[in-house]
Amino acid sequence: MEQSIINSNGYSIFIGNDVYDTIRSFLYQYEFSEHKIFVLVDENSRKYCLPRLMSNIQLFQKVHIIEVPVGEEIKNIDTCQRLWQELADNNADRNSILINLGGGIISDLGGFVATSFKRGIRYLNIPTTLLSMVDASIGGKVGVDMSGLKNQIGFFSNPQVVFIIPEFLDTLPEHQLRSGFAEVIKHSVIYEKHYWDDLSSQNFKDIKNWKEIIDWSVEIKNYFVMEDPLDTGFRKVLNFGHTIGHSIETFSLHHDDEPLLHGEAVAAGLICEIYLSNKFSKFPKSEMDEVIPYIAANFKQYPLRSGNFDLIIDIMKHDKKNTGDTFNFTLLTSIGNSLINQEIDVNLILESLRFYQSLEA
Ligand SMILES: NC(=O)c1ccc[n+]([C@@H]2O[C@H](COP(=O)([O-])OP(=O)(O)OC[C@H]3O[C@@H](n4cnc5c(N)ncnc54)[C@H](O)[C@@H]3O)[C@@H](O)[C@H]2O)c1
Ligand SMILES: [Zn+2]
Repeated sequence: MEQSIINSNGYSIFIGNDVYDTIRSFLYQYEFSEHKIFVLVDENSRKYCLPRLMSNIQLFQKVHIIEVPVGEEIKNIDTCQRLWQELADNNADRNSILINLGGGIISDLGGFVATSFKRGIRYLNIPTTLLSMVDASIGGKVGVDMSGLKNQIGFFSNPQVVFIIPEFLDTLPEHQLRSGFAEVIKHSVIYEKHYWDDLSSQNFKDIKNWKEIIDWSVEIKNYFVMEDPLDTGFRKVLNFGHTIGHSIETFSLHHDDEPLLHGEAVAAGLICEIYLSNKFSKFPKSEMDEVIPYIAANFKQYPLRSGNFDLIIDIMKHDKKNTGDTFNFTLLTSIGNSLINQEIDVNLILESLRFYQSLEA
């Protein structure tokens, strides 16, 4: 399979199971110099992905590996402090490079640590989850959480390069893969209809060629990022499904023993926001009858109870974009066409939650 190249803001994204040669030539400058290569991993990316890089690229035998525990809880300033110290103790200088090998937590954290260490050292991303391949590793947003609030401290900062190796998905647990798939579905409905037509011809379970899906999904995310690099308006199209999705995600985090993954909550959010699009922005019923059953067939229904609707709305209110009894949404007018900054009344949101609840599993 061919390697694909997508150009972003001053850096390139290489996609393919054979990008090892490209990684090797990119790192060639470090081969004979004193400048150090650091690799940030978590337990899983160390176990499943690092050995593949080590066996394909000799230079990886000499890198300095930094491991952090798995989980969002470590995406904070305390961990940064430890990483800055570890870089300093190992003589990282402005010519060093940090390789973020892992999911979105690793690229958010590593990108932030690199950008702030000594006013910025270079970093590159090798994403290892579907979510980080098609979303977190591109777009230049890096950061950490503060007091339980996500991504409160951060920068816009671009990697030197991104290398996506789809075969890394082989070891990713199915629920993590499926979670990333929600972002793939989102990308397919916000940009051009033929992506949706292609995607919806197969179910999650039947997908064999992830490379092809990653190629176009990255291209779509990158299109919105390039149009609005600093996220001042147009990039909000990428928020489709996320206003209600985030709120269900937070709700689940506080109420379930096994909380929903981000993408699983976004899948529910997409269904509700397609319903809103139909009611508010003339999203055609015929398209709604295509998209909603597809999402429902690929994601388990979350057991939302009417008694909790008010809580879900309260969580949405805490989102600073929302004022009074109206809420700010990105909606679709049809597959591939969207409107940002749509003010939606709370009653219509409640209706969309009831609609979600009424769907047959
Ligand atoms: N910066 C952005 O634009 C952006 C966009 C979306 C999400 N994010 C952030 O991304 C984070 C979520 O990312 P994520 O879903 O990748 O989570 P994650 O980094 O926690 O990875 C999910 C799980 O998969 C494991 N894993 C990773 N690669 C593996 C592999 N190849 N084989 C086996 N296991 C593997 C990890 O150890 C972890 O347990 C959140 O913190 C979110 O805020 C950032
Ligand atoms: Zn998302």
